[in-house]
Amino acid sequence: MPDKARKILVTSALPYVNGPPHMGHMVEYIQTDIWVRFQKLRGHSCIYVCASDVHGTPIMLKARELGVTPEELTTTNSEEFIKVFEAFGVDFDNYHTTHSPENEALTVEMFEALRAIGDIYTKTIEQAYDEKEGMFLPDRFVRGTCPRCKSEDQDGDACEVCGATYTPEDLIEPVSVISGTTPVKRESEHYFFKLSEYEQRLREWMQDATLDKNVISKLEEWFEAGLKDWDISRDAPYFGFRIPGTEDKYFYVWLDAPVGYPASFKHLCERRPDLDFDEYWRPGHDTEVFHFIGKDIMYFHTLFWPAVLQGAGFRTPTSVYAHGFLTVNGQKMSKRRGTFIMARTYLDNLNPSYLRYYYAAKLGPTIEDIDLNLEDFIARVNSDLVGKFVNIASRCAGFIGKRFDGKLTDALPEPELFAEFANASETIAGHFTNREYSKAMRIIMSLADAANRYIDAKKPWVMIKDEARLDEVQAVCTQGLNMFRSLAIYLAPVIPVVADGAQAFLGEESWNWESASSPLLGATINKFTPLLTRVEQQQVDNMVDQSKETTGEPQTVIDDNTISIDDFMKVDLRIARIDEANSVEGADKLLALTLDLGDSTRKVFAGIKSAYDVESLIGRQVIVVANLAPRKMRFGVSEGMVLAAGPGGEDIFLLSPDDGAEPGMRVK
Ligand code: 2FM
Ligand code: ZN
Repeated sequence: MPDKARKILVTSALPYVNGPPHMGHMVEYIQTDIWVRFQKLRGHSCIYVCASDVHGTPIMLKARELGVTPEELTTTNSEEFIKVFEAFGVDFDNYHTTHSPENEALTVEMFEALRAIGDIYTKTIEQAYDEKEGMFLPDRFVRGTCPRCKSEDQDGDACEVCGATYTPEDLIEPVSVISGTTPVKRESEHYFFKLSEYEQRLREWMQDATLDKNVISKLEEWFEAGLKDWDISRDAPYFGFRIPGTEDKYFYVWLDAPVGYPASFKHLCERRPDLDFDEYWRPGHDTEVFHFIGKDIMYFHTLFWPAVLQGAGFRTPTSVYAHGFLTVNGQKMSKRRGTFIMARTYLDNLNPSYLRYYYAAKLGPTIEDIDLNLEDFIARVNSDLVGKFVNIASRCAGFIGKRFDGKLTDALPEPELFAEFANASETIAGHFTNREYSKAMRIIMSLADAANRYIDAKKPWVMIKDEARLDEVQAVCTQGLNMFRSLAIYLAPVIPVVADGAQAFLGEESWNWESASSPLLGATINKFTPLLTRVEQQQVDNMVDQSKETTGEPQTVIDDNTISIDDFMKVDLRIARIDEANSVEGADKLLALTLDLGDSTRKVFAGIKSAYDVESLIGRQVIVVANLAPRKMRFGVSEGMVLAAGPGGEDIFLLSPDDGAEPGMRVK
């Protein structure tokens, strides 16, 4: 029997939406969604919230590069995440954004509460500063020569070649990744959170939180090294929330990102009057909060976040569940090999249920990496899901439908065999609860083997030829379909779409976990349509091909930035004459150009204002990408792109044809 009804709130890490989702992202959302669906099926209240993580320098700079606002960029990317989540059946109760009024209010509330108890202080620090761009540079935006092994073009915090770690100031010939200029050192006042004073309280939380032993040993390591106070502010320009009482200081993205969890929940409370924010987020209530995360962000979730919550008077997480990374074919995902697979590319080729099952078959509760081996993926899905599970129904449904008007018998011929399926219920449930999905899948598939063995032994396709044995066929198939039904219920958290199909085929309104233990008898079922078809090698090959940056070239000589001649020929470059050039209100860098392309006029936004006077551009010929899909920008739609060279600022050089070129001519 399931334990008494619980009130659970579950989160997955908020995706940073500076690009589209890939297969690595999906591990976490599928893992969490399975857990949530399982809890719901057990009759618990389980709320699943998430949001896009949208603040910080990378998104600010990416938006700038694309000539859109960070809001526009993150809205567009979030839309893709949301569509992908839906397609994979990741069923959030609420999906929000960290750039929300709820998040700002809660972040400020926590900050003020911490300040009131003296756990926030300010200190002046020295940092790399890009004078040309007028901004401080995060470590990863400074590159240079490694001070130890002298390898060139290394990150500002660590050398990829020799593994040395350092600060950007230690680099030889440091360069700003943004402007290409040499950064200078500049002082600025920052806000710090006194994490160092939270060790005892965090140790206590660690004892209560039933963490995986790998997570505990990581925490012990960090305690051993000593907790350092945390810099929670960044200087303008920054995309984030301004710190109250300051003109140019913003909360660091990692302060407000986890606040996105309660903020998304708060947003949900507005349309769900049955939910009470305080019951889930203030101490002293009988609710549970679980965070599912990747192992790379444990520090934030097991140190900073519980400490901030404790200090600010909020409840701490019941537990934090960390998982490992995804490898594909045993290696880090690679664009060259076609294994850096976007979620969208998967969806263009393959059924989402396959991946949900495959990840479940691989997932355990530890931070070990999981491997998507594409050959094994095909074999496992075809053998387990199609060959074992769906096959049980395929072998029995036809006889019941055609020969018995869809009617199941009133009793099972082998109740003891069915009891084996019912008796596995709590073991399987225990595995789901403990995130031992691979163990749950193994039990389910061994039960599927038992069901298939039973059908093999009874051979209904032979009995059906003997009029005297028709009752027996009906009974055997009723037995088979009931075993299928129990397995469909156990698999419902993993492959909900397939389970829904099975439920509809069996003509049932709803299932809960308990339904698997009592057979469906005397009912009339519906016509069977195949619930899942086999994966074909070609589908996987197509997905890999579409994930390669280049096609048809010998892969060994192509580096990650190379494009094929075919790719290049797709770009329609044309001569255009600038007929009009105007400033764009509210945009520092953009000019709105009206271009004559011979047979048409185009409106194009170009980020060249810092280098050209409007007057000097009129009548000038330039080269444009004429077949670029129109892009919606904050100021209007841009219908192409003007080519220019240079690092930016005053050093932007429009590419122009020699005399004699005419608007509309194709550039070859
Ligand atoms: O690692 C990441 O992608 C972060 N965006 C996760 C944030 S989780 C939470 F803290 F918001
Ligand atoms: Zn080095």
